[in-house]
Amino acid sequence: MYEYIKFIVNYLIRNFKKNIMEILDIIKSRRTIRNFKDEDISDADLGKILEAGNSAPCAGKLSNWRFIVVKYQKDKERLAEACFNQEWVANASVLVVICSDGGRIKGIYGKRGEMYAIQNTAAAIENMLIEATALGIGSAWVGAFDPDGIVRVLEIPNYVEIHAVVALGYPNEKPRVAKLKLPDVVFFDKWGKPEKGRKKNRPVANWLILGGKP
Ligand SMILES: Cc1cc2nc3c(=O)[nH]c(=O)nc-3n(C[C@H](O)[C@H](O)[C@H](O)COP(=O)(O)O)c2cc1C
Repeated sequence: MYEYIKFIVNYLIRNFKKNIMEILDIIKSRRTIRNFKDEDISDADLGKILEAGNSAPCAGKLSNWRFIVVKYQKDKERLAEACFNQEWVANASVLVVICSDGGRIKGIYGKRGEMYAIQNTAAAIENMLIEATALGIGSAWVGAFDPDGIVRVLEIPNYVEIHAVVALGYPNEKPRVAKLKLPDVVFFDKWGKPEKGRKKNRPVANWLILGGKP
């Protein structure tokens, strides 16, 4: 009986760890895609991506994010123009314009609410990019745009802020990006303090030495 329970517990722990790894693999494999295949993503997949966005954490339980889905080619071209002529944006299958209706959150939290409004939409965007990656769909977070140009196309009221354009489509490239490694960005106990001086009985740091491979 004891052996049986031990087996079940070990099995559950192993699978729990495996699931964590799979999510990390998806996160690490996400890349900004700027070259898309001429192939549409399905509404079912788009729905999952929007659902992922809407499942993000939100300060004060106030989901200030609003998503405008744009599929018409002419509108995508006008949005690409508003993104300071990043022409590749128009070749995405779908554009999702992420807006913030932040009246309530700013009303309740004041100056901090302005920060929350931005952080909430950023969390929603990242959730979308990760779900897209999991579905084999390429994505790009586009933050360089002229808001007036976007307002003109989508008739967005003036109390709403535009935070980003997310481009979605099947990837036609496999870009590589050099990023800082964990030991370059993680400090221990105090700003700027690397892991080296960490005591041996604090094993959490060991995998940092190995270059971020747990
Ligand atoms: C807030 C924000 C704004 C961005 N705006 C643009 C943009 O306007 N155009 C673009 O090509 N990429 C944009 N990117 C994508 C970054 O260039 C990209 O994330 C970075 O090069 C790292 O590559 P990776 O996403 O593949 O890890 C933006 C990313 C973020 C987070």
